[in-house]
Amino acid sequence: MANGQLSRAEALAFSGYRHACHVMLYSDTKSLLFGRTPIKHVILMQMRFDGLLGFPGGFVNQSQESLEAGLCRELQEELGVALSISEDDHVDARHAPRTAPCSPRLITHFYVKKLTEEQIKEVEQASASTARDHGQEVLGMVRVPLYTTKNGGGLSSFLSHAFIGNARTQLLDSLLRLRLLAPEDLHKALKHSMK
Ligand code: APR
Ligand code: MG
Ligand code: MG
Repeated sequence: MANGQLSRAEALAFSGYRHACHVMLYSDTKSLLFGRTPIKHVILMQMRFDGLLGFPGGFVNQSQESLEAGLCRELQEELGVALSISEDDHVDARHAPRTAPCSPRLITHFYVKKLTEEQIKEVEQASASTARDHGQEVLGMVRVPLYTTKNGGGLSSFLSHAFIGNARTQLLDSLLRLRLLAPEDLHKALKHSMK
């Protein structure tokens, strides 16, 4: 794979690395903001304990579980739901930059799973009520606004927040790859977010 991206198999061939898995859950929607602006897609991210935005998921215990079993365990803890994520949902993996010379070497895996709007609502409800990590490791689930408001807010403001690891790149790449947003609309939002 290109640009430092690793396939699942390539990533697992490295020894001496920890692995973390995160997933972008999303759906289509016909709902409108203020009765006129199409919302188009619901994409779930989360406000983390460290104040950064990220995708649900986390570290895998490689001696005990597969990547996908570890991801599903993390989703049960963070979202309070049993979701089935498979190898087919794996998008890519990357080496994470080391935060300190002594920090463990990490490979982060990214998955994408399309749900129905109903399933997304169930995830939101469970994550705020029954999820073990709610209010501790996870401060709340958030939806990504894909539109631009009259004063240039919406996606551009969302992108100006701080994100964990490579979560911002994972989001932007997914918007383009899955055609959830037109490239020109994304470029407009990015231009505004840098002002
Ligand atoms: N979203 C979140 N984290 C990501 C992402 C992403 N899209 N991409 C890469 N990462 C990296 C981050 O650097 C993060 O620290 O993966 C690492 C592990 O992911 P977490 O979700 O933070 O791990 P989790 O198992 O849920 O545990 C939460 O508890 O044990 C502590 O400090 C530990 O950060 C850990 C926390
Ligand atoms: Mg976790
Ligand atoms: Mg986590």
